[in-house]
Amino acid sequence: MEDRTITEAGTGRFDADAYYKVLLNCVRQIEEKTDFVPDVAVVLGSGLGHFVDAMEVVAEIPYREIDGFPVSTVAGHQGKLVFGMVGGKKTAAMQGRVHYYEGYDVHDVVIPIRVLKLLGAGTAVFTNAVGAINTEYRPGDFVVLRDHISSFMPSPLVGENVSELGERFTPVTDLYDEGLRELAVSIGREKEIRVHSGVFLQVTGPQYETPAEIRMFRLLGADTVGMSTAIEATAAKHMGMRICAINCVTNMAAGINDSSPSHEEVTAIANKAGKDFSTLLTELITRMD
Ligand code: HPA
Repeated sequence: MEDRTITEAGTGRFDADAYYKVLLNCVRQIEEKTDFVPDVAVVLGSGLGHFVDAMEVVAEIPYREIDGFPVSTVAGHQGKLVFGMVGGKKTAAMQGRVHYYEGYDVHDVVIPIRVLKLLGAGTAVFTNAVGAINTEYRPGDFVVLRDHISSFMPSPLVGENVSELGERFTPVTDLYDEGLRELAVSIGREKEIRVHSGVFLQVTGPQYETPAEIRMFRLLGADTVGMSTAIEATAAKHMGMRICAINCVTNMAAGINDSSPSHEEVTAIANKAGKDFSTLLTELITRMD
């Protein structure tokens, strides 16, 4: 593993030039393995990796073969990049992702989406498993994000701005694309898949929340809670991507009912929802312009 220090020697501060070099090095290594240029980047969350079975696969690259690319340590996350066609769209799917709770720096967590943008993807679709705060939701439902709350997370844009990627101060007013959200909701209606539009809140994890935290998050306006996605979406927005995000509800959040969330339940429900999830995502990618 080559040295990928992204702090400026002696200062401990984020080094934008060193970071950008890590990204370009990842891009170069991928381009040496495939000449596939994706238009759509899809990040598959816990238990949702089976979507790749619906792809016409052209190339696969395990993350560990890309020096500088962060590798997931979580059970249920496979850890490879899958390139292929989905309904005629050139798609790069990340089967598994890294999380902040694994101990990665927030800048490292967003390396994959930054690399996929540099490879050519203009659209990002993030997916993840979440707990439902909104009592109208139930396990197996999907929530397409209308907005998010990332105030409990460090920003991936902190530190010297990587000006090759985007501007210093990024507006995140319309972070999630309205057209893609409406398309996802209408596909849900047509296919009889429960798809809501809601507000997601990201926490660091890895512990699930206390009932008191969930009561607070409800007061703040959150419908769902999870441990990924918002910071990656922030980095994607910084780079000017068109963004959609889909939560898969795997459990009711702590204190909403009598049971406590568990990782086994999360992956089991996500796997069970896999068929609906593949239908929703395939149709969304096929029909987007
Ligand atoms: N809380 C946080 N993250 C989650 C949950 C939850 O209840 N379920 C799946 N991911």
